[in-house]
Amino acid sequence: MTRIFIQEVAVRDGFQIEPRFIPSEEKIALIDALSTTGLAKIEATAFVSPKAVPNLRDAEQVMRGIRRVPGVIYSALVPNARGAERAIACGADELNLVMSASETHNRKNVNRSTAKSLEGFQDVMRVVAGTRVTINGTVSTAFGCPFEGAVAPERVLKFAERYLELGFHGITLADTTGMAHPLQVEALTAAAVARFPGAELTLHFHNTRGMGLANVLAAIKSGARRFDASLGGLGGCPFAPGATGNICTEDLVHMLQAMDYDTGVDLDGLLRIARKLPSIVGHEVPGQVAKAGKITDLHSEETPS
Ligand code: COA
Ligand code: ZN
Repeated sequence: MTRIFIQEVAVRDGFQIEPRFIPSEEKIALIDALSTTGLAKIEATAFVSPKAVPNLRDAEQVMRGIRRVPGVIYSALVPNARGAERAIACGADELNLVMSASETHNRKNVNRSTAKSLEGFQDVMRVVAGTRVTINGTVSTAFGCPFEGAVAPERVLKFAERYLELGFHGITLADTTGMAHPLQVEALTAAAVARFPGAELTLHFHNTRGMGLANVLAAIKSGARRFDASLGGLGGCPFAPGATGNICTEDLVHMLQAMDYDTGVDLDGLLRIARKLPSIVGHEVPGQVAKAGKITDLHSEETPS
């Protein structure tokens, strides 16, 4: 059985764009519940400017308040050295540094050029030197930019290469606003797998145009084994027009299990948590399996349709 690693991002990518602030205790309870389901990694929060992302202004409380389950990696999104210092002080296992492949989105998201972002990452590496923290680098808008359109694959790969030169352990190729299609994903993933055989490669898809799970299968075909996904399909970048949710974790796990992949995730446990999500966020969520039930949940003949 092929192992696929599932990395949960609802508490970061999901909650950052919610219309209302989710109380810290609810975030902590959700992370603690998710920690018991077999997920490989949980992106717990972001140590960014509270003015830029007010919903995650409680990053310290959340990172310090969660119950750590051995084997789960607790990561945090970080834009600069200041964020790295904050995340390390709270015991994050991994820092997820973000930069966009396109200049316009990078400026909108972190208010600087890509050259300045890369310079800043050198400062981050000085902050983490001597600690056990690992570094993942995300290349956002890797499959297209909502401002600039197509992004050259070579540009994305060059940034990923630069990340590895800086000493990062992992690379995420992120389709920030759901612009990727499966053939594009197959090609860029194959190129990344061939060029960076030693790196931990993650694919991060949004389902903005309904291509999310198809893109996962395309990436698996090219050798990817790690995927970000968000409970209920929440998510989206506040600095990209029309952004919508990530691929939905429980829908992803359901599909992969049906196809005989080993995700290590307790799907029933995950679904129980997913079904509580609408009451946490105060609205319906896009996830489908939590509403429809699993393909193995059969109905009796007498069930009214
Ligand atoms: N944590 C907390 N506060 C931070 C910070 C961090 N990591 N980095 C900067 N700040 C504060 C500064 O102290 C300053 O505060 P002040 O206005 O009270 O003096 C303010 O944020 C602006 O700092 P500055 O260094 O001038 O940065 P900026 O205005 O150019 O913003 C970022 C740059 C990166 C800090 C900001 O754009 C950001 O946090 N972006 C987050 C993007 C994000 O999370 N996107 C979604 C996920 S991809
Ligand atoms: Zn995202």
